[in-house]
Amino acid sequence: MAVRRPLIAANWKMYKTASEAVEFVRRFLPLVAGIPDREIVLAPAFPALEAVASALKGSPAALAAQDAFWEEEGAFTGEVSPRMLAAAGCRYVILGHSERRRLFGETDATVRRKVQAVLAAGLIPIVCVGEREEERERGETFSVLDKQLRDGLKDAFTVDPGRVVIAYEPVWAIGTGRTATAAQAEEAHGFIRGRLSESASREFAAGVRILYGGSVKPDNIAELMAMPDVDGALVGGASLEAESFARIVAAA
Ligand code: PGA
Repeated sequence: MAVRRPLIAANWKMYKTASEAVEFVRRFLPLVAGIPDREIVLAPAFPALEAVASALKGSPAALAAQDAFWEEEGAFTGEVSPRMLAAAGCRYVILGHSERRRLFGETDATVRRKVQAVLAAGLIPIVCVGEREEERERGETFSVLDKQLRDGLKDAFTVDPGRVVIAYEPVWAIGTGRTATAAQAEEAHGFIRGRLSESASREFAAGVRILYGGSVKPDNIAELMAMPDVDGALVGGASLEAESFARIVAAA
């Protein structure tokens, strides 16, 4: 059996200036100092990356960006390349978040190019997949997940499973307070692992970490983590405050 180290990631979205982010780190690190066996990842907005990288030096927590463009450099006004993110101290990059798909026109095809570029830069993509509410109601959850995995992630199927992370984030659970039940999360995670076992390999499926995201809170993390295929969490709202995120890390 592959050992999948639990990973708890904070997605700060468009919150926190650099100084607010550093203040969070100062409060947060002592709160999680004694907690072993978990990987902690913080994903601030681009302007806070370098300041958070410095604040995290010497701590076990890692830095993530919330997006990346697929080119290394060039005339792409407003974009940031994986190479720049690696130089800023990132280890992870969140890709294909549902807000990017819904508000900024990202598709499985653009996610795929970004996954390739992020892997090529030696960074670890955290690739978000998940169905919308109407898709769940129509019974399409599994087919939506299947397509997102196949079309967005297939280039990662041959890499070491430790070099990729998947986040199952049902869109109806993000920022709504409507967490998926532990059983709903496990059903989707189990499906994803099963599909990966067929499309990638048994080793890849057994080793890749699948995070749950969508209204994770200090009081629901333990039951989610108790599910065999839930390997961690991607936390938005409840990660903005140091005490709250530390409670999630401690209970995971
Ligand atoms: P939420 O966001 O925890 O606020 O629901 C999760 C996410 O968008 O990654």
